[in-house]
Amino acid sequence: MLGVCYYPEHWPEAWWAEDARAMRRMGITHVRIGEFAWSRIEPEPDHLDWGWLDRALDVLGHAGLRVVLGTPTATPPRWLVLRHPGILPVGADGRVRGFGSRRHTSFSSPDWWRESRRIVETLADRYGEHPAIVGWQVDNEFGCHDTVLSYGPHDVAAFRTWLRARYGDVATLNARWGSVFWSMEAGSFDEIDAPVGAVTETTPIARLDYRRFSSDQVAAYGAMQAAILRARSPGRFVTHNFMGFFTEFDHWTVGREYDVASWDSYPLGFLERFPFDEAERAGWAETSLPDIASFHHDLYRGVGRGRWWVMEQQPGPVNWARHNPVPKPGMVRLWSWEALAHGAEVVSYFRWRQAPFAQEQMHAGLHRPDRSLSAGGQEAGIVGRELHDLLMSLGTEALPDGGRSPVALVLDYESLWMADIQPQGAGFDALLLHYRWYEAVRRLGLDVDILPPGAPLDGYAAVLVPSLMAIAPDAMRAFADTKAVLLFGPRSGSKTGDFAIPGTLPPGPLQSLLPFRVTQVASLRDGLRHQVVGEAVQGQAERWREWLEPRDGAASIARHADGSPAVIRHGRVLYCGAWADGPLLSSLMRHALHDLAGLPVAALPPGIRLRRRGSLCFAFNYGDQPWSIPGSPTLLFGNDPLGAQDAACWQEAGWRPS
Ligand code: GAL
Repeated sequence: MLGVCYYPEHWPEAWWAEDARAMRRMGITHVRIGEFAWSRIEPEPDHLDWGWLDRALDVLGHAGLRVVLGTPTATPPRWLVLRHPGILPVGADGRVRGFGSRRHTSFSSPDWWRESRRIVETLADRYGEHPAIVGWQVDNEFGCHDTVLSYGPHDVAAFRTWLRARYGDVATLNARWGSVFWSMEAGSFDEIDAPVGAVTETTPIARLDYRRFSSDQVAAYGAMQAAILRARSPGRFVTHNFMGFFTEFDHWTVGREYDVASWDSYPLGFLERFPFDEAERAGWAETSLPDIASFHHDLYRGVGRGRWWVMEQQPGPVNWARHNPVPKPGMVRLWSWEALAHGAEVVSYFRWRQAPFAQEQMHAGLHRPDRSLSAGGQEAGIVGRELHDLLMSLGTEALPDGGRSPVALVLDYESLWMADIQPQGAGFDALLLHYRWYEAVRRLGLDVDILPPGAPLDGYAAVLVPSLMAIAPDAMRAFADTKAVLLFGPRSGSKTGDFAIPGTLPPGPLQSLLPFRVTQVASLRDGLRHQVVGEAVQGQAERWREWLEPRDGAASIARHADGSPAVIRHGRVLYCGAWADGPLLSSLMRHALHDLAGLPVAALPPGIRLRRRGSLCFAFNYGDQPWSIPGSPTLLFGNDPLGAQDAACWQEAGWRPS
């Protein structure tokens, strides 16, 4: 259940066998290789050099390691780019993004598709039945370095084709886009360009469609590779490694192409990159916030329809964030166990050994460049031993299945794009809103499944919908069908699928479950807050506030100072028309999840998190204060009290899957 990313092409061949043996000694069972090795596989046009890769696979296989082989399409070599310069992506500023790093390709270039097909077929023909290979990774981190959206001639041509298929004729497009506004009407699809480079903002629906189109291109490109691999490598799984806090394509549709979802977990780097408060960043700089990794674990468990890995686990400081601290002692172990507790099949560290050369020379590995074990490597070794002992004491070969969580959180990529395209206020970061809702639930000690809109919701006690801007009919049906308590957040139902305000005003179709309308909205600048007071729910609105007009039995359960409703309820359905600050959000969650949905909740200290996996319960301490585990269970590993940056596990008596 542990893995590592290894680059045999970076090291003398004489080291490989010892590296492989050392992996096994550390408890590592899986190794991912090859995803950037195109220039070594095909050093010149049509000249393939398999020797080194044959030998590397043999060495790893003989050591008993199971190999995930990456297709090398994240790094087309220099000769290929010189031959086919049209594969290069073009930025929104119209400039070509050149060779010299990676991901220098457009998903719409026909040359790029042909070359990708060729190298993937060649690789799969060679190794499809190799006994050491258990799975394939398609490409590497689609979209990394802002490479989903490209604006070159191939992209625009493909966009026009996509628009034709979506709208049929240009009159329909003009009507649905509202192109009469500012005389934007088009006479034919060929007159439509990418929605960039204009004097001021281009129409939101054009930008939304460009995102939809670009997301579809990523899905199709991945599907092309996956189909080749499946046909030539039967019995192996196909995965892709997704990223953290990354929303440039729809992971629900792109993820459907893979048997297993995997993602790359760099908790300290993400803390720096995502728009958290400076105080949070400073307070959690060396551990990360307690919900960053798990938010993604729960998201990618959904994307993988239950099957997922951490393909790259941060092993120490990274090189790419604004600040790159060393994780506090214990964190690499904690992150590893946390991923396993959330259901990861494999946690794979990035990378076996720090490379002393090139772009990532300041990025830690499990070993230092001189081959000595790093601090992270020592902790990975501890996880290997603990995992072995845990499985022995349970008498099984794998950890139990997690089953369904009591709470579902619905996350929709189109809504994130809409809020990004039309934020209507600098503070409205929709992904941050989703994160805050998730965090509020996790602080109550509850497990969460993250789902796409339209997923069946039966079996959940509560369903949270932080901000579903356009509610499609299948999502509405799922909401109408569930018996769960449903809590919707601001801007839900505020747009149609064509990025317009619904004729009945927001929340559009949601009015059939909760009769009210939103009559006006305000974005609140930093420091401007509106008090919210109710019996069970109170705090402040920040960033965003709506004016709600309930009708026909919908009741207000918390109001603003001017008397207008802030949170309303009709039966089991609630709507919060504000960006809730910490106190408002935690009281709202407690009310919805405990008072209404009847779930048992805990008031966990800020750094403590719990997670069940089948009959096992895990506890994690991101903070510095020791925590006494309630009920003093007999631990399978870890300590009670749970010390700073420690993880513990026990068998939960009487636990039943919900
Ligand atoms: C990931 C990427 C790896 C490596 C790593 C460094 O985004 O997949 O190839 O660059 O980051 O943290």
